[in-house]
Amino acid sequence: MELNRRAFCAGMAGVAGMALARPALAAPDVLSARKASVQLAPEGYPATQVWSYDGTIPGPLIRVPQGGRVTRQLVNELDVPTSIHWHGIRIDNAMDGVAGLTQEPAAPGETFDYDFAVPDAGTYWYHAHTNSMEQVARGLSGVLIVDEATPPDVDRDEVLMLDDWLLDPETGLFAEPFDHPMMMSHGGRTGNLIGVNGQYAYAMQAETGERLRLRLINAANARIFGLKLEGMTGWTVALDGMPLDAPEPVRDEIVLSPAQRVDLIVDVTASDGPAGLLMSLDGDSWEALVEIGVTGARPRRNAAPAPLPANPNTALPDLSNARRFDMVMEGGAMAGMDSATYQGEQMDFRALIEKGQFWALSGQAGLFDTPFASLKRGEVARVTLTNRTAFPHAMHLHGMHFREVRADGTMGPLRDTILSVPDAPLDIAFAADNPGKWLFHCHMLAHAASGMNTWIEVA
Ligand code: C2O
Ligand code: CU
Repeated sequence: MELNRRAFCAGMAGVAGMALARPALAAPDVLSARKASVQLAPEGYPATQVWSYDGTIPGPLIRVPQGGRVTRQLVNELDVPTSIHWHGIRIDNAMDGVAGLTQEPAAPGETFDYDFAVPDAGTYWYHAHTNSMEQVARGLSGVLIVDEATPPDVDRDEVLMLDDWLLDPETGLFAEPFDHPMMMSHGGRTGNLIGVNGQYAYAMQAETGERLRLRLINAANARIFGLKLEGMTGWTVALDGMPLDAPEPVRDEIVLSPAQRVDLIVDVTASDGPAGLLMSLDGDSWEALVEIGVTGARPRRNAAPAPLPANPNTALPDLSNARRFDMVMEGGAMAGMDSATYQGEQMDFRALIEKGQFWALSGQAGLFDTPFASLKRGEVARVTLTNRTAFPHAMHLHGMHFREVRADGTMGPLRDTILSVPDAPLDIAFAADNPGKWLFHCHMLAHAASGMNTWIEVA
């Protein structure tokens, strides 16, 4: 028998403590939520005390083959309860990680075993779903990749997790409080430091002619990224994990709202000029977000990339018998909200503000005992999202992907998060094929914490 290091240590502990060591069981892979000191800010600034998975920002990359399982034991080494949500996975409801809806969070010192199948290939992520407004902002997120059986023809596959952090530059510590009413009632918590893969200035190397798959994930609490390719031509091949029917050439700005992902396949075209990803800061000024140093050259591929293989059960929903629902977003700064239902009672906006509830979804501020919609398994739901606020909202449905129903009746690509902007109603539709209690909320996490949080039941 081969002794690995872990088995060896367990064996020694057994010898020290008792006469006999138990036969080694396969130890679960652990994901420990713990404090760590990480250099988020540029050199010369102090390190930041973060809350992390396994001590790194982002947390460890989890990578499994399509159809496989993710098995991780969350070990909570923090002083507060926590839980993990596996964002975008069409998951078994009991594993969805939503404190207070699908599980009790793991108390400090306790564990929770996550074990679930991953039906869909693509780019996903995981993050805390207990007081997420604070826990995600402090660093509790990581990337989950589910690999296709046959990967696309690219030279390299690169993960780029975009994030921002609101830090005090003097101390390097997170600015507090996390539930600042000004942030909650406006655009949410946006950082003063923007980074990729936990680094302020993220750089990579490539050769002219190289074809890269770039997996972009927006892990920020509230920032909407506007992005452009520089020195590269590319195609969008997947959104929110799900492959597009056909790759779409990237022509304009790529807009990535909190929690959204985009998979790009790009060809590096720059030879001595710069290449990389640019982000728009204020409308027209562009700044490097990812710098790609170009060295060397190889022959460029001539053909556009082939589509990624479709995931299972992704047929268009049949809208003919769809049940219609209206979700009206109200509240926030610079817009009125006369009254809303709060825990079943009519209350005026002033009273809601006193409770820190600045927003409402169809008259309800915060999570109610009764769901926004009760669907029978297999039923098709069509929800009209009307944004009567002065802010954009990144609406995210757990457990199932949906499609936008466009004005001409055609349907958009599968998504799990969609950006709703003021005064532009959106229709989304999905087949309720995953039983359970599924959160539907704004992924500007301060908005979710202050009212934009509801749920859908599929039974
Ligand atoms: Cu990314 Cu409710 O979560
Ligand atoms: Cu919002």
